[in-house]
Amino acid sequence: MENLKIEIQNKRKSFEDALAKVKDRHSLQDIRNEYLSRQRGIITGIFEQLKHVKPEERPEIGNLINDFKNHVQERVLALQEKFAAPKKVLEKVDLTLPGEKKYWGAPHPIPLFQQEIENIFLRMGFSIADGPEIETDYYNFGALNFPPHHPARDDWDTLYITDDVLLRTHTSPVQIRVMEKKKPPIRIINPGKVYRKEAPDPTHLPMFFQVEGLVVDLGITFAHLKGTLEYFLKALFHEKIKIRFRPSFFPFTEPSAEVDIECTVCGGKSEDCRVCGGGGWIEILGSGMVDPQVLKNVNIDPEKYSGFAFGLGVDRTAMFAYQIPDMRYFYENDLRFIRQFSLK
Ligand code: DAH
Repeated sequence: MENLKIEIQNKRKSFEDALAKVKDRHSLQDIRNEYLSRQRGIITGIFEQLKHVKPEERPEIGNLINDFKNHVQERVLALQEKFAAPKKVLEKVDLTLPGEKKYWGAPHPIPLFQQEIENIFLRMGFSIADGPEIETDYYNFGALNFPPHHPARDDWDTLYITDDVLLRTHTSPVQIRVMEKKKPPIRIINPGKVYRKEAPDPTHLPMFFQVEGLVVDLGITFAHLKGTLEYFLKALFHEKIKIRFRPSFFPFTEPSAEVDIECTVCGGKSEDCRVCGGGGWIEILGSGMVDPQVLKNVNIDPEKYSGFAFGLGVDRTAMFAYQIPDMRYFYENDLRFIRQFSLK
């Protein structure tokens, strides 16, 4: 064992001496082969002698040899880098060639548009709430004052998972979830995906985005609803856009109103406009005063508190804002289309 230890020391010394004389890549390669070659290398030779060492002494000697091997490898590698051929990158650049265009990608137009909507409401002091896309019948319908088997349910073409569990057809269930947890004052919006059993066509998709809004506090009136939505639509489109409130029905609001804006494509001037169909107005959202029964369902006293709510289709509104004739374009992932949108 002592002999082998001395031999390792000697070889280590001769390796250092040899390395000190190395001048180029070739002589370095020779030394590397001499020490590290798997078949005839000095280190392999030393390892072979290990079998003559007593078993109990083998771990110690084994460690010494491994140390030596690692040391040789590290030193050779360091010098290899030093002697590596200089890169000739600069010589190869032809400055007369046009540059390579890099495309870095961008957010999808729908989340981008959603962000614009969120920002307007955040400025008005709303906060953002969230809720699940897989809902129970109770949150999607029951708590929102849809009686069982009521025909109003048919307006929402529902994708059921079981009799009681479904993909939410609107973001309105988040109203219930928020009011169950938090008592007034409440001022939230909830953006999110909703699902309906619909065949895709220019104005319908089986999956789309909505933004729900809910305000509940002391003394909230229809004037607050009107003022908030007018401010919002003017900020989103432009100051001069014409808006109208039209009476409507939703089981969870009373009274209810749908809000139309003047057609962004023809401005109400074309009889065969493919966006407004010649009517001059396009429906943009549903809204109303929260039905007292809905407040009771979440243990908020309707004698004391009142509120308003609204729900807006993001994809549909984006279609009008960008004057796009077919909502399906948003999801076909045609980069020629998608790349036309970017952060303002
Ligand atoms: N949830 C309705 C829909 O999907 C939209 C809606 C109407 C939401 C009136 C509301 C509301 O919050 O008050 O068609």
